[in-house]
Amino acid sequence: MSTSDDQGVRPATKLVQGGRRPEWTGDPRLGGGVVNPPVWRASTVLYDSIADMKARGHATHDKLYYGRRGTPTVWALADALTEMEPGAEGTLLYPSGVAAISAGLLALLAPGDHLLMVDSAYEPTRLFCNGMLKRYGVTTTYYDPLVGGSIAELIRPETKLIFLESPGSLTFEVQDIPAIATIARERGVLTMLDNTWATPLLFPALAHGIDVAMMSLTKYVGGHSDAMMGSLTATRTVWPRLRQAAYQLGQAVSPDDCALMLRGLRTLEVRMRRHGENALAVARWLAARPEVGRVLFPALAEDAGHAIWSRDFSGASGLFGFTLKGADDAARARFIDALQHFGIGFSWGGYESLVVPSDPGTIRTATAWTDADALVRLSIGLEDPADLIADIERGFGAMAE
Ligand SMILES: Cc1ncc(COP(=O)(O)O)c(C=O)c1O
Repeated sequence: MSTSDDQGVRPATKLVQGGRRPEWTGDPRLGGGVVNPPVWRASTVLYDSIADMKARGHATHDKLYYGRRGTPTVWALADALTEMEPGAEGTLLYPSGVAAISAGLLALLAPGDHLLMVDSAYEPTRLFCNGMLKRYGVTTTYYDPLVGGSIAELIRPETKLIFLESPGSLTFEVQDIPAIATIARERGVLTMLDNTWATPLLFPALAHGIDVAMMSLTKYVGGHSDAMMGSLTATRTVWPRLRQAAYQLGQAVSPDDCALMLRGLRTLEVRMRRHGENALAVARWLAARPEVGRVLFPALAEDAGHAIWSRDFSGASGLFGFTLKGADDAARARFIDALQHFGIGFSWGGYESLVVPSDPGTIRTATAWTDADALVRLSIGLEDPADLIADIERGFGAMAE
């Protein structure tokens, strides 16, 4: 565990240095260390004596005890993520982003509680609320992502948590996170944010008043589309509850996957910069095309969320959407099938570009999605944007045929 501080070390430096504690990267008996924390695979941990076993049973999470409680490879990743969030007490790791969301909600809610969930949330987040949480007696109200300070009117005496996702990963509305977080704190309600789009590099969530910052590390932190993991990074007040629940639920991650995540994390700053630049180039080009209805990307000056986004975020990642003017399902499929530089596949945040059709109208309940044009989501990778643009132009040609 390391409490995040701000001793003048900037985020890009933290990404390089985070979690590389000497006791995890070296052994004094060998006279030196290595750059990366080695992969410590373990189920069984061995003790010197029964007294030693008893002592370590009461230790905090960064003492070897049993494989499920982690090894230095796991702690190094958790530590590095904690250091990226000023104001954080610690980070817990889960086998996927969805596992992090559901474990966080289970840890912070109890029967009879009320949850405010943003209507633009990732669909499996909603499924958990409508399924398991409901079964356990937690009521969910979905709210308009643009509610801002009016969230106050939705808070009930039994409201315990407000869940945010900004920008929404299908429809890209930008929430007024500071306004919501301020009201939540005043009313004694916790906040949890799905911060996968921005990562703490572009939006340090806890510094903006959020209590629990969630990420699917599967996306930008991993960055190479070959591993899955999720994280919750939390304030001092909330973190012990999350840790206790993670232990009780038996949540554990593989040290090999942690090593992949740590490798991704080291280059996050350069990749994010390029993802953002490439996405902006493609989005600007799309915005000027007659085939396009609208582009949903807060980094564009004309986007409805641009003012709040530029106030709160220090940059953009590479995920955004756009509508195909007058296109139906079949035309959208012709467009997508013709693309050669975009893989058709779920997930996002990897170095390679991806495309998926999306249909938010069938998912939302608090706010209607009224755009009749077919929606497409792009995850812009690290290719040359000129090639991506040429590819999309080819797609438009195929769509018209
Ligand atoms: C916004 C968002 N949150 C969470 C998740 C879940 O992450 P994972 O796929 O690692 O379970 C996803 C996955 O697509 C996502 O898009």
